Amino acid sequence: MELISGCSKVTSEEEFYCKADEYWKNIPSTLNGMLGGYGHISQIDIRGSYTFLKRFLEGPGARVKPNRALDCGAGIGRVAKHLLLPIFKTVDLAELNSNFLEQARTYLGDASSRVGNYYCCGLQDLKLKEKSYDLIWVQWVTGHLTDAHFVTFLNECKSALRKGGLIIIKDNVAILEVELDSDDSSVTRNPEELRHIYNTANMKILFEQKQTHFPPELYNVYMTALES
Ligand SMILES: C[S@@+](CC[C@H](N)C(=O)[O-])C[C@H]1O[C@@H](n2cnc3c(N)ncnc32)[C@H](O)[C@@H]1O
Repeated sequence: MELISGCSKVTSEEEFYCKADEYWKNIPSTLNGMLGGYGHISQIDIRGSYTFLKRFLEGPGARVKPNRALDCGAGIGRVAKHLLLPIFKTVDLAELNSNFLEQARTYLGDASSRVGNYYCCGLQDLKLKEKSYDLIWVQWVTGHLTDAHFVTFLNECKSALRKGGLIIIKDNVAILEVELDSDDSSVTRNPEELRHIYNTANMKILFEQKQTHFPPELYNVYMTALES
């Protein structure tokens, strides 16, 4: 069985994760580092995320309480700082690279006092307390997980959600084939593979929307709200 369905180029799990780890260890702990040289799109990205998220916080679709959120693949805490901490009382960060988490303590400024936990680990190994989060935000990191780990990660998140809670995945989506980036050792999945993974984890898509106003040379980026 393929480690990543639709991508026969990934043949060793160990190599897939080691190469990604090596790649991120050599990336500066900056906004530009987090966004592959596209630091200037951060504001547009956050605005799009806020508009997407707002419908679950207020109005007729309100269901997510603004208490505790988890930022997965958090990097230096860009999403935590600009999207989650302004809304949620407490935010936890989960990130593989310890240098990024160290930088987050400074980057988040005063708001770092409302960070509950800094989990330094790969999402493939993440263990969460049951019913502890109102929102789990997962941005630009799922391509670093094999199919099997993506499913176990979703299951872990599912049991960590409180009543009304949601997982929101924001990531690149390929139009046709699943594509491997051999520089950072990540894949970009297509909609069929993503749906297959969500189904396998018994998660339903509650709402999905494409991010607009990104530079045309980038992949399509979708925000997907998942519930169990
Ligand atoms: C493109 S950056 C995105 C950072 C952040 N989500 C943002 O949008 O600013 C990808 C992040 O995922 C982290 N990462 C890579 N593989 C990971 C894994 N297996 N588990 C957790 N984090 C991982 C990298 O260290 C990096 O911080």
